[in-house]
Amino acid sequence: LTFNTLKMIIFKKAEDISRFIREKSVAANIIGFVPTMGALHAGHVSLVDMSKHTDALTVGSIFVNPTQFNDKKDFDKYPSTIEKDIDMLEKAGCDLLFLPGLTEIYPGGTKTETHYDLGYLETILEGKYRPGHFQGVCQVVDRLLDIVQPGRLYLGKKDYQQCMVLKKMTAIKYPNTAIIIAPTMREPDGLAMSSRNMRLNEEERKLAVKISSALSFIKKETRKGYLEDIKERAKQYLVAEGLKVDYVEIANASTLEPVENNNGNTPLVALIAAFVNDVRLIDNMLL
Ligand code: PAF
Repeated sequence: LTFNTLKMIIFKKAEDISRFIREKSVAANIIGFVPTMGALHAGHVSLVDMSKHTDALTVGSIFVNPTQFNDKKDFDKYPSTIEKDIDMLEKAGCDLLFLPGLTEIYPGGTKTETHYDLGYLETILEGKYRPGHFQGVCQVVDRLLDIVQPGRLYLGKKDYQQCMVLKKMTAIKYPNTAIIIAPTMREPDGLAMSSRNMRLNEEERKLAVKISSALSFIKKETRKGYLEDIKERAKQYLVAEGLKVDYVEIANASTLEPVENNNGNTPLVALIAAFVNDVRLIDNMLL
């Protein structure tokens, strides 16, 4: 069974897209959902491709969610390329696009009583440096999943911690939605694709690649034993190149707990967040 709408149908109202999906009697287990904040790149397209392979109906969304931005300037400067995005999604074969305004997502306003219990995950790395960020991510994804009711939710591995947070949130609230994590897409020199890369000028773009170079360095150097020195060298390398580092961490790949002493048996992930001037970029690599 394939849905085959030929042209992508765009919905602006939550009620309309929900009703459309219900009236077509599309079972949840054949609906794939790709939520985005627009400014799309090949990484997003790869998520749509994955869904097209598996699901009868592929639903995308574009909504720049204000509640997940802890920094107002970052929100104001978030790139927007809506015409191009629509074109890319349609060419990728996305069937339905949900393009809501603020009041569709937050009919009662953005302040919410709901607190998502994310525990330890929210206290470290992105959670620590971007207070409230993951509450905002859960808030919007909760609302979107409630509207779309997909069987599969597609996310990119570049946002490693976000994938873990959303696994935790959906395990309780949406047990019928599986999370599918797609590999990070990289530019030929190694830079992880990100919407924020659009904000980099030529010079900054050259600096941005140092983040993935630092991760490759960590991957190459990681041995059994203490890891502090490797982390410190990666950090110093980035600082010497002129980046402002929020963190360079090596963590247990399944819990994100920092690992100081590598026993050689635990799967590890290295994670970096750093600013190139005022553009904050993140990336990670399994070791
Ligand atoms: O990863 C993103 O683009 C966003 O955090 C998401 C999942 C679309 C929620 O706004």
